[in-house]
Amino acid sequence: MSYSTLLVDIDDHGVAVVTINRPDKLNALNADVIRELGHWFEGAASEERVKGVLLTGAGPKSFVAGADISRFKGLGPIEGKKFAEYGQSVFNQIEGLGKPVIAVVNGFALGGGSELALACHMRVASTNAIFGQPEVNLGILPGYGGTQRLPRLVGKGLATELVLTGAMINADRAYAIGLVNHVFEPDELMEGAKKLLMTILSKAPIAVSLCLEALRAADLPQTEGLRHEAALFGQACATEDFQEGVDAFLNKRKPDFKGR
Ligand code: COA
Repeated sequence: MSYSTLLVDIDDHGVAVVTINRPDKLNALNADVIRELGHWFEGAASEERVKGVLLTGAGPKSFVAGADISRFKGLGPIEGKKFAEYGQSVFNQIEGLGKPVIAVVNGFALGGGSELALACHMRVASTNAIFGQPEVNLGILPGYGGTQRLPRLVGKGLATELVLTGAMINADRAYAIGLVNHVFEPDELMEGAKKLLMTILSKAPIAVSLCLEALRAADLPQTEGLRHEAALFGQACATEDFQEGVDAFLNKRKPDFKGR
């Protein structure tokens, strides 16, 4: 399928760069963007060529400046709930991809843009990045997961302040509170993100996928999460890559992981 709002480039290492391409609207999430993201990530789960994803926005100014506000005009309670549920389902798909997804935040990450970055497994930002949940300025609340993922990442106190005030924070502040993993100069951002992803892709792929699943279970009560972790650990022990990793260590050589 060809996309009207996404640019996709997959290199020989399996790094897919997915770019939301509405720079004239600061890459705001209209219905097409959400639908196309859902379609692409659904396919990417089983697409052999895709090993990991860098998700970014087109242009130098914005990652995603939020849901497209023109969609809100006349939105009633029933459609509003459906709007939130659909966006949440697409963002859940991103979080549950089973392959690492890094948000490459090259400017504004506001509202749904911040929530999109939160649904990715990690975030790297350029020095000009601005994060915020300004929904209260429009008389609504974050509806694409922000009230749930932000407190889990930065703590409830800070998340409450950000959501209730709509304050915008810069990249340094986002780094200080653990919202982003690394900050790069704008012209080094994509390279820095790719380096981080390539480090992950050099590891045993099934183990990486199981790690992502186990980390996702950190949202569960701890006893349940630990049960989950033990089951996933058992699964990892059934892989050839586990045998290879242990053998390589004991024989002082580099492992050659096959993803089996
Ligand atoms: N939805 C729809 N259009 C948006 C948008 C959004 N969330 N964010 C930006 N745009 C559009 C603007 O309307 C403008 O379009 P136009 O040129 O046709 O008028 C274009 O993108 C450029 O934005 P502009 O406001 O001119 O840029 P700026 O540098 O002056 O301001 C922002 C940048 C991000 C501060 C400002 O665009 C803004 O506040 N956007 C809304 C952020 C928001 O509330 N997001 C959460 C939504 S729930």
